[in-house]
Amino acid sequence: MDISRRSFVGSLFAAAALPSVAQDEPSLFPSRGRYERLALAYQHIHIGLEKPFSVLHISDTHLTAAYPDENAKKQELHAKRSLTFGGRQEEALRDSLAWAKDHVDYVVHTGDLIDWQSRANYDLVKKYLGPQAGSLVASLGNHEFSPDMWLSPAKEEESFKDRSRKELAETYPFDIQLQSTVVNGVNFVAIDDVYATVPAVVVARFQAEVKKGLPIVLCMHVPFHTPEIWRASCTFWRNQKFKDAAVPPPAGDLAPQQKDPVTRDFIAYLKGEKLLKGILAGHLHITVQERFSPTAVQYVVGGNFLHHGQQVFFT
Ligand SMILES: [Fe+2]
Repeated sequence: MDISRRSFVGSLFAAAALPSVAQDEPSLFPSRGRYERLALAYQHIHIGLEKPFSVLHISDTHLTAAYPDENAKKQELHAKRSLTFGGRQEEALRDSLAWAKDHVDYVVHTGDLIDWQSRANYDLVKKYLGPQAGSLVASLGNHEFSPDMWLSPAKEEESFKDRSRKELAETYPFDIQLQSTVVNGVNFVAIDDVYATVPAVVVARFQAEVKKGLPIVLCMHVPFHTPEIWRASCTFWRNQKFKDAAVPPPAGDLAPQQKDPVTRDFIAYLKGEKLLKGILAGHLHITVQERFSPTAVQYVVGGNFLHHGQQVFFT
């Protein structure tokens, strides 16, 4: 769909009926200004647009809500995972969306809005994303498909997703496989790559988007690992001290991206696709960027649960 600049954020907030930030628990940086607990990075993608605009890109909010009548697994996860993520995730999301309303034209969320599936988390999704299907540039993350984290481990393959596709499609106000949103002549294409690989059906739908002939910004949860993004991920997640110039060997999310033929071929194709102007991703909980192709830089944003986000200017 093609949506006007202000109607996007306006419709988002009308639906969410956001309370003011001042109502939040004041003990975190109590003397700082309204938005000064947000940790924002600033990026710029130059396309040559007639009408410049900007977005707030956030990711990995990891909401951990459960109603008292939800089962024991949900109660245990609520207690433990709220500690893991600091317990201020909803505040962080609310602050971010309120800041977006005042400062940018659109919001992009690249997945893991929830930490695991619960009625309470789903209700928060509906509250903050609103009922208007397609009014948000967003993708799912691997945690959207998680029934109960380690208490009911996910099998990270396409067939496992089938268990939750219907309920997620009914809860999230966008096409969870691929969503196209044209903003001032730029096609934001949000795709499902939650287990690091790109399903063939998503590749086919992406090719149809390319045929529109518009500049494309690819939005997705797991980054397509390039050497420095992979190095940063390994340093952070494996507590590795930087010792030499060698790129850490493939493992984790990088290995399937190199092994899966559909994903490998798609990444190789993308590197030569001149319409690709940028990639916005999350999942790593760190802010890092690296050139992906001659026409596109990939920007990974840190965890929204830590009040992180990035403003991206499009000119
Ligand atoms: Fe993730």
